[in-house]
Amino acid sequence: MTREIKDYWDENSKYYQEDSKIKIGIHYGPGAPFEDKLRLLGKLKGKKILEIGCGGAQCGIAMAKKGAKVTGIDQSIEQLNFAKNLADKNKVNIKLIKGTFQDLKKIKSNCYDIAFSAFAFQYSPDLLKLFKQINRILKKKGLFVFSLDHPFFRIINPKTLKSQGSYFKTGRYTEKTDSIDFVGYNNTVSELFNPLVKAGFIVEEMIEPDSRKKYAGDPWYNLWGLYTPKLLKIVPPTIIFKARKK
Ligand SMILES: C[S@@+](CC[C@H](N)C(=O)[O-])C[C@H]1O[C@@H](n2cnc3c(N)ncnc32)[C@H](O)[C@@H]1O
Repeated sequence: MTREIKDYWDENSKYYQEDSKIKIGIHYGPGAPFEDKLRLLGKLKGKKILEIGCGGAQCGIAMAKKGAKVTGIDQSIEQLNFAKNLADKNKVNIKLIKGTFQDLKKIKSNCYDIAFSAFAFQYSPDLLKLFKQINRILKKKGLFVFSLDHPFFRIINPKTLKSQGSYFKTGRYTEKTDSIDFVGYNNTVSELFNPLVKAGFIVEEMIEPDSRKKYAGDPWYNLWGLYTPKLLKIVPPTIIFKARKK
């Protein structure tokens, strides 16, 4: 159920943005280099891009500054309000849609060159359904690049640095917080890879950035007692996929 995830983000958007102070740029997540190093997206000028789970749209705004026509979708109105203000401050025009990525019906088929998502698909209860919709909205040979929690990351307890469960225990998990419980979904690597193939993508690259290094500008480094240098030396927090519609 994505309602609780939406409520969590509406409640926590302000703190998330204040804590992380994410700069305008195309990032992939904690412990990972930015797009200027990874170069997964190619030239962006004139490209039609859908940023999925755009949050504050720091990525989408950076893409728009490079001449792309960007639409961002997110289900949290608070995240979208932040994105709108940030886009205005940066004097770029991006279209923002409030909606869940579990239902992209309103988006026309075969109309985007690139679908991009940074750190949002760990909130998807059904990746195959999601990937099929993304395949539908992309043009032929359209690019699909996304990052999310590395499946190994949550098997180590950030405080004790000991195993806290099985890699194979996938699906929905919850974490108690001071406000609304945090809900996410764990996947194994094959549970990320196989639905991509089933949905009609060719996977061109899978990237596991070496999080033993600190990457310049990483807004999450050592944040929330979660992305600690000690933990990042043991397990990677981020995995990235580059796939293409057939
Ligand atoms: C960790 S934030 C990442 C935001 C942004 N991509 C970034 O990199 O800063 C995850 C975002 O996914 C959004 N999200 C979670 N589930 C969603 C859903 N089902 N549909 C649309 N957005 C969703 C949240 O509202 C939140 O803004």
